[in-house]
Amino acid sequence: MESLPIFSLIAYLLVILTTFWAFIKPKSSKKLPPGPPKLPIIGNIHQLKGASPHRVLRSLARKYGAPFMHLQIGQVSTVVVSNPRLAQEILTTYDHIFSDRPVTTASQILFYKGQDIVWAPRGKYWRQMRKICTLELLSPKRVQTYSYIREEELIRMRMSLELSTGRPVIIREMVVEMVNNVICRATVGDICKDRKILIEVLYDIVKALSAFNLASYFPTMQFLKVILGKKSKWLKRQKQLDTILEDILKEHQNRPSSNNDDQEDLVDVLLRVQKTGHLDLPITKDNIKGVILDMLIAGTSTSAMVLEWAMCELMRNPEMMKKVQAELRDTVKGNTIVEVDIQNMPYLKLVVKETLRLHGSLLLVPRENKVDCQVDGYHIPAKTRLLINSWACGTDPEYWENPESFIPERFEKSSISYLGADYQLIPFGAGRRVCPGANFGLAIIELALATLLYYFNWELPNGLKPDDVDLTEAFMISSLPKHPLQVVPVTMSSLLAD
Ligand code: HEM
Repeated sequence: MESLPIFSLIAYLLVILTTFWAFIKPKSSKKLPPGPPKLPIIGNIHQLKGASPHRVLRSLARKYGAPFMHLQIGQVSTVVVSNPRLAQEILTTYDHIFSDRPVTTASQILFYKGQDIVWAPRGKYWRQMRKICTLELLSPKRVQTYSYIREEELIRMRMSLELSTGRPVIIREMVVEMVNNVICRATVGDICKDRKILIEVLYDIVKALSAFNLASYFPTMQFLKVILGKKSKWLKRQKQLDTILEDILKEHQNRPSSNNDDQEDLVDVLLRVQKTGHLDLPITKDNIKGVILDMLIAGTSTSAMVLEWAMCELMRNPEMMKKVQAELRDTVKGNTIVEVDIQNMPYLKLVVKETLRLHGSLLLVPRENKVDCQVDGYHIPAKTRLLINSWACGTDPEYWENPESFIPERFEKSSISYLGADYQLIPFGAGRRVCPGANFGLAIIELALATLLYYFNWELPNGLKPDDVDLTEAFMISSLPKHPLQVVPVTMSSLLAD
């Protein structure tokens, strides 16, 4: 009840400002893309209620016949793209215009004023960091180098599951821990003494990033941040995180450098490039901390959620589960599973692809245009946020048969890529800002799913039937099952760990 006076104050304030705004608002003659009617001041905020932003946005786009839809979210002009044709147009013809990221409270406070990669404005610095990402940090060779980390962490997960044989486990807890360990070890190495606290702080940040933050949609009303207490919370998190990241940097700087490329974690790589990289722009300590944070945040939740969804879908479809397991067991033939085996598992790869189509939507990394532009005959004012609803593209009935059904076989005779070349399937985005970590994410997801399905059979607890597996969504950075999947592992005795 304590917060009631604050909310009443905000409500009064909004009513007064609404009335005032209705009188003074300049009427623009330029034609914006279509969209739902807007209320003064709040615009379309009231229409954005719902558990999953990608569903709410698709419903609005369909209701108003607007695959290219304009929304006014408070003071923030926003366009949402909901079909593959327009996604392609925007991410090719207009990609250079929409390659910026908006400036947000989180990007300023947490990501060192956008001095990382994800939130960096398009320009010389961002181009340099993308190059370092592609050639060094997330290159195919580096991803391959870390296969021993994935294999070790998966043995750990498998052993812990063996101890739970016959009892229900919450699959999310297992996969989140495993993915966190893989990405943390690859990024900051084994020596991070604060790994547990780091993971807790990161979880808190991901939760906060996913929450609707009213103040960030009224950038000129800075006082809202203070009233709602958001700014002080962000500052507190930043301080906690910065202390850990500083320690990580010091630990790395104080240990003797290795001449062996294969033993470098990502912090080592960044420090090496900082010293010897013949760079156009120097890399600062804040840049390195920002990039570490990007890797830790961008890589963890996304990959863990895809894994949990894949297990949900397979528990609902026992025939598909049997088919993947048969493929795995025929290929690995009783040996220990290793990463190279994955290349011989086409059906497993189709299951992952179909999971990404139905459940891989990541709406939280918007783009922005710096200057006014025209798209499809519509005026897009400068500083408009662009959201590409990749889930709406992945379920567009003009491009997909039975779009809402989980059917990995649909890809059997199809060459559709999920890496940014085919706009009906863009879980990793496309264009200049396409996810540079896709191969790293996929390497974790594929090997982890193979491990779960090769060494164990799975049952539902309490006599539940496949159709009882609940696919209701919640939202945290991306969509995740609202009710964490509980399943009972049954160890294949012939494959027990030594
Ligand atoms: C299943 C896993 C993943 C999914 C679905 C995913 C998806 C995405 C998407 C949709 C974007 C925005 C693209 C755009 O704006 O067009 C993005 C950006 C990014 N991702 Fe990923 N990602 C995943 C895993 C990873 C991993 C493992 C890493 C690194 C360890 C990573 C690092 C990044 C970075 C640094 C960016 C920002 C790129 C830029 O702004 O230039 N991602 N990701």
